[in-house]
Amino acid sequence: MLNTMGFKNDILDSLISKEDIDRRVKEMGLALTEEYRGKNPIFICVLKGSIHFFSDLTRSFEDYCELDFLSISSYGNARKTSGIVRLNKDLDMSITGRHVIIVEDIIDSGLTMNHLTSLLRARNPESIKIVTLLDKPERRECAITPDYVGFVIPNEYVVGYGLDYAGVYRNMPYVGILKSEVYGDESTEV
Ligand code: IMP
Ligand code: MG
Repeated sequence: MLNTMGFKNDILDSLISKEDIDRRVKEMGLALTEEYRGKNPIFICVLKGSIHFFSDLTRSFEDYCELDFLSISSYGNARKTSGIVRLNKDLDMSITGRHVIIVEDIIDSGLTMNHLTSLLRARNPESIKIVTLLDKPERRECAITPDYVGFVIPNEYVVGYGLDYAGVYRNMPYVGILKSEVYGDESTEV
């Protein structure tokens, strides 16, 4: 249910401020610039969660690169993926022989990224690296290790800066922890 007092009332606390995000994303962009200088990598935006991160990160990348987008959704409930991933929109470009940088909002169980990397590896890119804004390593259910991590966070459900719960909160400029009462009686273990 949407709160008539506004969506800020659903947030328990800010976890990562806009200033901290800006600083860290710039650092990551510069580190990627060093690593990929002269390689014209393809940055892949995993819609919808990574839109803001992708937009800021690629603007901090100071060399030639190309941008492409894919959209996936995973079956499960609102806070936990089943690991069954559906590709809603594929890339427009071929990645064969190219350096690919996957840009994700958060790695939780790792099942989504596991699926995505196998899908993209089958297209024979020259290399694939994973960049994620947030990482919840405690929750990992498979062997996925991101190459660049913005922030390691505890096992809390977070929203904002692209991350949603039930489709909303993506437009918040910072990352916050959602009040547990917002989940209502959603009966799952998280
Ligand atoms: P995984 O497959 O369990 O690693 O989950 C990855 C996807 O679940 C992410 O791309 C997010 O869309 C979503 N997700 C996992 N944890 C959170 C969270 O704390 N807030 C918002 N979305 C999350
Ligand atoms: Mg996502």
